[in-house]
Amino acid sequence: MTRQGKILLSFALMATLLIGTIAIIGLRATPKPADAGAPIGGPFELVEMTGAPVTEKSLIGKPTAIFFGFTYCPEVCPTTLMELTSALKTLGPEADELNVVFVSVDPARDTPEQMKLYLSNFDPRIRGFTGTPEAIAEAAKAYRVYYRKVPVEGGTYTVDHSSSVYLFDADGRFVEPIAYGAPHERVVAQLRSLAQRRG
Ligand code: NI
Repeated sequence: MTRQGKILLSFALMATLLIGTIAIIGLRATPKPADAGAPIGGPFELVEMTGAPVTEKSLIGKPTAIFFGFTYCPEVCPTTLMELTSALKTLGPEADELNVVFVSVDPARDTPEQMKLYLSNFDPRIRGFTGTPEAIAEAAKAYRVYYRKVPVEGGTYTVDHSSSVYLFDADGRFVEPIAYGAPHERVVAQLRSLAQRRG
C-alpha cells in the first residue's frame, strides 16, 4: 500500500469511528416524544372531604371516574355533578363498583368542610378531594388538567379549568374521557362499561 493509500485508509477508519460514535450519542440523546405517550394520572397526596389523607392508592381496586373543578364554579362543575348524580342513579347498585371523585382546583376556598357541604347536594357516592395549593398543582399536573385563577369584578375570582371527566380502570390505567355535555345515555353507557371492567 502506498503512503497515500495508508493515509486515506486511516482517514476512512477515523471517519467510520466518528460517524459511529455520533450515531450512538444521537440515539441516546433522542428525546422521547414530548409527553405524547405520557399516561394520564399519577401519584397525589390530597385530603378527603372527611379530613383524612388520601393518595392515588386509595382508588386502586375499583374503576374510577375523576374530574377537577371547584365548589364556587358557576356552571361546568354543577352541571357535571348533576349529570354524574343522575347517571349514578340510573346505574343504581352497579355504580357502587366505581370510585367517583371531584378534586378541587381552588384550595383557598375549598376546605374539606366546604367540599362536604357542596357535595351534599349530589350523589353521596361522590367523594371530594382537596389539599394544599402545591399538592393540587401536582395532582393536576399528573392528570394533565389545566386550571387558572381569573379575577372577576368585586375583588373575587373564578377558576378556568378543564371540563372532562377521566375514566380509569381498577389498576389505575386511563381508559377514556367523558366529554362535557355528553348526552345522558352516553354517560350512563360509559360508566356502566367502566363498572363492568375487570382489572
Ligand atoms: Ni367548574
